[in-house]
Amino acid sequence: MIILKSEREIEQMKEAGKVLASVHKQLSKMIKPGVTTWEIEEFVDSYLKKVGATPEQKGYKGYKYATCASINDEICHGFPRKDPLKTGDIVTIDMVVNYQGALADSAWSYPVGQISDTAQRLLEVTNKSLYIGIEQAQVGNRIGDIGHAIQTYVEGEGFSVVRDFIGHGIGVAIHEKPEVPHYGLPGKGPRIKEGMVFTIEPMVNIGTYRMKMDNNGWTARTEDGQLSAQYEHTIAITKNGPIILTDQDEA
Ligand code: MF3
Ligand code: CO
Repeated sequence: MIILKSEREIEQMKEAGKVLASVHKQLSKMIKPGVTTWEIEEFVDSYLKKVGATPEQKGYKGYKYATCASINDEICHGFPRKDPLKTGDIVTIDMVVNYQGALADSAWSYPVGQISDTAQRLLEVTNKSLYIGIEQAQVGNRIGDIGHAIQTYVEGEGFSVVRDFIGHGIGVAIHEKPEVPHYGLPGKGPRIKEGMVFTIEPMVNIGTYRMKMDNNGWTARTEDGQLSAQYEHTIAITKNGPIILTDQDEA
């Protein structure tokens, strides 16, 4: 069942989204060679506390941290750790913020120092694919239109779309219906309705879309060891189009 949200609920999720977007804006200044993802984790944890928000991922299905920190070939669910980030790395920080009971979810990939041209292009294509997906999130379209647009664009640029992790409805729980794949066929899947709130969060790889799972049971990395990037927003559907609840320009 897809739970539709009222205008008031969407407003509350937008407040959570603003807190989250402001975290990402601060991370974009903080992330440099030598910084550790453990320091990022501690910063996020204490900043959320300071503004009266909580990290929803901590304790979710046994996950232990406020953030996921996925470096280079890690697709998602990397653990924060104490090794310093190095020039040329890319790192994706993903988190879910709970602010007064409302949730928002957003991941962002960051370059660490000077990165290769290919890595830079991966970040640009992945970021653009998110907005191409968001454009399709219109009342009357179907969920499959989103994934189809993302996949067509990403593959046209010579990269691949991860299949094993998808976007999702979100509200008072992190994961609700609908499922939002970043690949697939136009005209398929549930019809998009006013009041839906879901994430779009394409993970894009340079090489194969296939993944392998680390022994920790959480961290997925590319099967071929090449780079992976991800950008994620939480969006709300209105009759006038999608609203980005985690927009960094509004934080
Ligand atoms: N933020 C993730 C998502 O985009 C959920 C993370 S799962 C967790 O769906 F266990 F790491 F919290
Ligand atoms: Co997320």
